[in-house]
Amino acid sequence: MHVAIIMDGNGRWAEALGHPRLAGHEQGARRIRAVVESAPALGFDVLTLYAFSADNWKRPASEVTSLMALFDRYLVVEGPHLRRAGVRLSVIGRRDRLSRRLAEQIEMTERMTACGRRLHLRLAIDYSARDALRRAAIAACSGTSWSPMEFERRLRSGRGVAADTPDVDLLVRTGGEQRLSDFLLWECAYAELWFTSTPWPAFTVTELGRAISDFRARERRFGGLKPTYVGPSFRPRSEASEDSP
Ligand code: IPE
Ligand code: IPE
Ligand code: MG
Repeated sequence: MHVAIIMDGNGRWAEALGHPRLAGHEQGARRIRAVVESAPALGFDVLTLYAFSADNWKRPASEVTSLMALFDRYLVVEGPHLRRAGVRLSVIGRRDRLSRRLAEQIEMTERMTACGRRLHLRLAIDYSARDALRRAAIAACSGTSWSPMEFERRLRSGRGVAADTPDVDLLVRTGGEQRLSDFLLWECAYAELWFTSTPWPAFTVTELGRAISDFRARERRFGGLKPTYVGPSFRPRSEASEDSP
């Protein structure tokens, strides 16, 4: 199961308590550990967390600088912990606009945790789904003859290199907004969506458990009918003729 979370509401959580927005980001970063620790028991194979969108560069320089420093600190502190817990960490999104120090820290943490098999944790930093789609499409049109599968693998990494990850099964967004904000547009084609007004710094594993119970009670049809229907499925003419020589 692939669960993706848009960790939103950090700034409003802090402001409501009279703190600077950065305090919300710091508390938000602390929340990640409990969610990651609970993920294998909740049945997650892949967990993708939206940490910084390509559009977040529009924020004041002081907030952006603090966030970048926070990502660096997160990786330094959590890297060894993730390794011990059997978690493989990857970062999706562009790297060319990150500081060299952060890019190196990302590479080091990815290498350090590469053997993790209990969970694949993906952090989206400087990520834009539209940018990923655009890059993959441009590369595919420029003479590179990729198979549809290779095209898809590349766009799933968010930066043009191949990545194997399944579609998103459940997308959670905290903080009250009900939108995708350019996150995993391709991978969420059939994702179940779950929104909560709880801001990310106050989000608990108990609430995540509620999201999972709700998800398990839903009926996913992927365009077909209820799984109990056993008759033969209709095949459109074009699909049938594609198969015949
Ligand atoms: C999400 O929280 C974290 C990032 C986008 C980096 P916000 O910073 O968007 O918090 P709100 O939505 O302003 O409360
Ligand atoms: C999306 O949140 C990005 C992250 C949570 C990292 P935003 O707060 O940036 O999204 P909008 O601006 O409300 O759509
Ligand atoms: Mg926000």
